[in-house]
Amino acid sequence: MICAACNAMTELARCQSCGEKAHLAESYRLEALLASGHAATTYRAIREEDALPVVIKEIVVSRARAEKARELFEREARILAQLDHPQIPVYIDDFSIPRGKTHSLYLVLGFIEGVTLAAELAVHRYSETEVLDICAELSEVLSYLHGLSPPVVHRDLKPSNVMRATDGQLILIDFGAVRDAISDSHIGGSTVAGTFGFMAPEQFRGEATPATDLYGLGALAVALLTRKAPHDMLDPSGRLQWHEHVAVSADCRGRIDALLSPLAEDRPSSALAVMNDMRRRREEVRRDPRLLEEAPSTRFAEADSHPLEYSMPDQPPVLRDAMPIEEPIASASSWITPLTCLSAAMMYTVVTIILAIAWGLLLLPSL
Ligand SMILES: Nc1ncnc2c1ncn2[C@@H]1O[C@H](COP(=O)(O)OP(=O)(O)OP(=O)(O)O)[C@@H](O)[C@H]1O
Ligand SMILES: [Mg+2]
Repeated sequence: MICAACNAMTELARCQSCGEKAHLAESYRLEALLASGHAATTYRAIREEDALPVVIKEIVVSRARAEKARELFEREARILAQLDHPQIPVYIDDFSIPRGKTHSLYLVLGFIEGVTLAAELAVHRYSETEVLDICAELSEVLSYLHGLSPPVVHRDLKPSNVMRATDGQLILIDFGAVRDAISDSHIGGSTVAGTFGFMAPEQFRGEATPATDLYGLGALAVALLTRKAPHDMLDPSGRLQWHEHVAVSADCRGRIDALLSPLAEDRPSSALAVMNDMRRRREEVRRDPRLLEEAPSTRFAEADSHPLEYSMPDQPPVLRDAMPIEEPIASASSWITPLTCLSAAMMYTVVTIILAIAWGLLLLPSL
């Protein structure tokens, strides 16, 4: 295990390196380091009393510098403790431990067996149907969050903050950027949180409404389809210029562009509207796959109280058709036809020349 006091590997309850108790808060055995970001360190751990696999997020706060980090962390714990949805990790515990001049803050959550979409993206090329399915499934959990009173806005949707559990279900993680949004149109405070490239314009003004997450959903869809970092596709006015980076139907493009509208009021009316629209579209495509080629124009349907019956695939998509992330997708289909024609023409020319020479050699002795 990893010693909670000094981070050395140890076999014993008393750390062999530092001599301190190796368990965290006398209850958790740290098993592996999952991620070490600029603010938080995430561990896979086991709760000793019942061998429950958990995730522990640690933030080390120096009293002088990290008031902001502490505020975000406590907000995350407070919000998570009140959430109850199958697509959100279960909140288990939070506590802090003073260590000299610093304070370590810990958040304990249920462990999700699976991979992040960022990891999946590295080995899988998503079709537009898969991406619209992902948007529909995430809209479901967003609809739950936005329906709380006051609404909870995630504010940091991106591939590394979504996990695909081994049963195929998508789980939204990392509520570090969450804040309580006040239910009326005025959003208090001016906290700028999120990830550049995935952030809606209003987030730069410290504002966040449910529509902010719909923008994040659009940026996530763009990242999955293009396999590029959205911030590399921003134009000087801050708009995501992604069309040239991937070939999708006009219908899919229209849906994603609606999510990415710079003005929140131009985005779809709610996560529920997005979910219903995407599932309706999925059903239409299932009935008539030619719709993917015909690229009809699109509009988002208004939220309705009777979502269509829709069955999500039980299994995660098979990681087939993998290609290196650097390889441009947009050009992949367009160069196949000319290249094939060119090869055929060259073969034809070579065979003709060989036949002509052979014929000449045969005729030569008879002249
Ligand atoms: N509940 C969980 N179950 C399994 N793995 C998880 C869970 N939560 C997080 N992880 C893993 O840990 C990684 C980091 O987690 P998370 O996104 O919460 O933190 P972070 O991005 O490093 O922190 P922050 O953005 O708050 O600075 C994830 O990408 C994922 O691989
Ligand atoms: Mg994260």
